[in-house]
Amino acid sequence: MLEAKHLSKFYGSVPAVQNVALTLEPGQVLGYLGPNGSGKSTTVKMLTGLLEPTYGEVTYHGQNIHKDLIAYRKVLGYVPEEPNLYPHLTGEEYLDMVGTLRAMSSPRKSTRIGSLVELFSLWPHRHVTLGSYSKGMRQKILLIAALMDNPDVLILDEPLSGLDVTTVLVVKSLIQALSAQGKSVFYCSHILEVVEKVCSHLIVLRKGHVLAHGPTSAVREKIGKSSLEDVFLELVEDVDVTQIANEIVEVMVSS
Ligand SMILES: Nc1ncnc2c1ncn2[C@@H]1O[C@H](COP(=O)(O)OP(=O)(O)O)[C@@H](O)[C@H]1O
Ligand SMILES: [Mg+2]
Repeated sequence: MLEAKHLSKFYGSVPAVQNVALTLEPGQVLGYLGPNGSGKSTTVKMLTGLLEPTYGEVTYHGQNIHKDLIAYRKVLGYVPEEPNLYPHLTGEEYLDMVGTLRAMSSPRKSTRIGSLVELFSLWPHRHVTLGSYSKGMRQKILLIAALMDNPDVLILDEPLSGLDVTTVLVVKSLIQALSAQGKSVFYCSHILEVVEKVCSHLIVLRKGHVLAHGPTSAVREKIGKSSLEDVFLELVEDVDVTQIANEIVEVMVSS
């Protein structure tokens, strides 16, 4: 089980995440929802061990992840928000490198890469350099890299960004299938519709603070609204979206 207690991160004196507590059990899909800049990616970087918390800690099976980060990373699959891929490597070379870094055996590595590349419709592109991949193709490579070593915990930061409609449907269905396999999934997004459909539990974040936390249906019920979209608007953004849109147009057309 993955657990975070009192998790906080300050960039200098600026708080990005404050006092977040969460647990992620096997089979659970936890949605982490909040608008841009609310602290989602900062939380993710602490959960993956990329950033040390200013306060609080992340534990896996009761042990602080920084005690044995290599062992923790072995059970972790991570899809980062920014695809920092080496542009001169081909898709296959990159995945091979990831498999090597994860100490996968050669036969297991090449079988999995072949099968997953095929399933994500990248087979014809496997020898093309990542620099010439589209955004969606790079995202598929990140997903394959996260999945190929069969991790127990998946941390996905906006995993659908740039994907085509078919792949979005596949990934949504995949998350449910992974949950049924007992995998833990931390799903970070600002898109309500998807989170509502795929997540059993939900945390709503605003300016680094947790606003609501619980089973998706309970978070919805607590607020007394039928749609999570209403919940989100009520909790997070006290704005008149139509008015903002009209003002943007006014600025554009003004002389
Ligand atoms: N490396 C950094 N240095 C300083 N401030 C940062 C850094 N990364 C993020 N922030 C700030 O922390 C806040 C949360 O950012 P982030 O975690 O990326 O939010 P989200 O992923 O929800 O959009 C924002 O105000 C952002 O500007
Ligand atoms: Mg982010």
